[in-house]
Amino acid sequence: MPPISLNRRAILAFGGAFIFVLLLSGAVTNHVRPDLVQKHLPDSWRSTSQLPPPQQDPPPPPKKEGNPEQAWQEEIFPLAKAGKIPKINPKNVVNDVNFKTPLLIGFTRNWYLLEQAVVSYLAAGWPASQLIVIDNSGVMDSNLRGLLTPKNPWYLNHTRLTQLGVSIQRTPTLLSFAQLQNFFTNYAIEQDWGYYFWSHMDVVVLSDELLPNYKSVYDRAVEVLGNTLAERRHWGLKLFAYDWLTLVNVEAMKDVGGWDTQIPFYMTDCDLYERLAMKNWTQDPVSAGFIYDVGSHLKDLAVLYPEEGHETELNTTRFQNLKKELEAMMKEKQSNDGGRNYWQARQDGGQGEPFWRNPKGFERGINFWIDKGRELFRLKWNYGECDLIAKGYGIDDGWTDKKPIMPTP
Ligand SMILES: *[C@@H]1O[C@H](CO)[C@@H](O)[C@H](O)[C@H]1NC(C)=O
Ligand SMILES: *[C@@H]1O[C@H](CO)[C@@H](O)[C@H](O)[C@H]1NC(C)=O
Ligand SMILES: *[C@@H]1O[C@H](CO)[C@@H](O)[C@H](O)[C@H]1NC(C)=O
Repeated sequence: MPPISLNRRAILAFGGAFIFVLLLSGAVTNHVRPDLVQKHLPDSWRSTSQLPPPQQDPPPPPKKEGNPEQAWQEEIFPLAKAGKIPKINPKNVVNDVNFKTPLLIGFTRNWYLLEQAVVSYLAAGWPASQLIVIDNSGVMDSNLRGLLTPKNPWYLNHTRLTQLGVSIQRTPTLLSFAQLQNFFTNYAIEQDWGYYFWSHMDVVVLSDELLPNYKSVYDRAVEVLGNTLAERRHWGLKLFAYDWLTLVNVEAMKDVGGWDTQIPFYMTDCDLYERLAMKNWTQDPVSAGFIYDVGSHLKDLAVLYPEEGHETELNTTRFQNLKKELEAMMKEKQSNDGGRNYWQARQDGGQGEPFWRNPKGFERGINFWIDKGRELFRLKWNYGECDLIAKGYGIDDGWTDKKPIMPTP
């Protein structure tokens, strides 16, 4: 999977571990950071259907015969191609927003998942002008110039994003997950933003049309932001369904020195979240609607929009079917039965195009650095799990001789 999704998986892993342990013994092991997870879970369960969080990824499963593979589809949003982007529900549009709501979505591989995530945010009311795709495909200006073909895993259609009104920033070269996160923060500093939202690219958001007082995902996110700014507390992060969508305080990121880029993927989130907590920056779970974690895409993204002429209707058959389908897609990804990665396997072309890399080699390379990152975390803290604070660590204890305080049996 693209580096961008690793952070989520680490969080899911300890979320999963937490529930498991609760069920078995009612105790909390050192795999979990109870303060974050405990506050975190109920919200996530509410806002992402009742599916249990998935287990951490094993290595990509061997390709089995008979996996439910999606047929290759070059175009998943024919209406956009025809220049006829559907109207969103006018109830999802929020006027008089007094503050900026920049949302950054990083992209490395899989245009189809990215386009799906972007379109879901737009349909849920996020203004296109506030949505910025960070092109971390590492192919320099090749996507901008349209030099890659859709079967190339690093293909990104700049023209389509521009057509949708979404802007694009490019990273100078391929960044790891931790580097990309620091890129987000630095970008926010350059833009003079005190905060920003970021989202994984392999999610789909859906406004909760079952609410008695309907509000779109965007409306609710704006509300969270407004409350957060009014609180004037020492807030660090607001987590919408784990960190599938996150509101980040730039001041907090500066205070802890940002992400540790020497831990490129897994564990780098534990490292950062623990360091934030060590300096008392809060990390509260919040909610804005349904957020699904998916590894596949809808056949036609038009289904994310209301039917023409019925834009203001809520809880329609379309909505109910869409919700069911997204739940099934999330479940499929979590089942790990090839679901998580099968799209990558389909998007396996582009050989000979600029900056092309062997996709399987790329995956293996990432896995290599994931392992090295875990090793480095252990070197840094003399300890390899996420619950640094519970083991007595403070902000100055990285790279010292300090050992974890283990409970005496
Ligand atoms: C990219 O998007 C544009 C605008 O929707 C569309 O005209 C074009 O066909 C797309 N390119 C490919 C290769 O699909
Ligand atoms: C949504 O529609 C379904 C089916 O028509 C109905 O059973 C359900 O009560 C509705 N929910 C709300 C909150 O309106
Ligand atoms: C964090 O809060 C605790 C408890 O209120 C306090 O003892 C500690 O000094 C604070 N740490 C920092 C870095 O502000």
